[in-house]
Amino acid sequence: MEYENDDKYKAIDKYVKEKLSENRYMHSISVMNRALEFAKQYGANEQDAIYAGLIHDVAKEVPKNQRVLLAEELGIELDEIEKEATALIHAKIGAYIARNTFGLNDEICDAIRTHTTGCANMTLLQKIIYLADFTSEDRSFDGAKEVYEMAKKNLDEALLYALKISIIDVMNEGGFVHPDGVAAYNYLLLNKRKKGE
Ligand SMILES: [Fe+2]
Ligand SMILES: [Fe+2]
Repeated sequence: MEYENDDKYKAIDKYVKEKLSENRYMHSISVMNRALEFAKQYGANEQDAIYAGLIHDVAKEVPKNQRVLLAEELGIELDEIEKEATALIHAKIGAYIARNTFGLNDEICDAIRTHTTGCANMTLLQKIIYLADFTSEDRSFDGAKEVYEMAKKNLDEALLYALKISIIDVMNEGGFVHPDGVAAYNYLLLNKRKKGE
């Protein structure tokens, strides 16, 4: 496709490939393809969706014992939950790399930053990247297919359902629920009620 000849795309692709295992690189490509699909359907900026999807997990393989340290070195602020549930940190480090290594715009960086938790009042691109990550072709967990079918009809409905699944899963595993995830869920539910749905 056309974007594969774009220099910035090539540079990001090379970097992501170097930083990630084969499987996770393939996941990144799947998320990118799903993000592009949603961007086309919902009229988001396609190039932003491509870059965000491709780079969203670039920091996912930073070893557990280095995550907090690396974030601090980069001047990234972490909250109490992120310091405990360190798997969350890859989203913020990914956004940092997107901005500082590749000069990607705020919209893209915000979408990378919130791809794991969500947040209140998400932009179209934030919704797309969250749902692309949840429903990419390589996903086999319960609900991924269902959420994908929903997302093709209504992004907000799909997002509300995906957040619910994520939050319940985290709780069942005895993990921390990040407040941004709860804020995302409540925001969507409030909106739905206001619309009388
Ligand atoms: Fe991720
Ligand atoms: Fe991901």
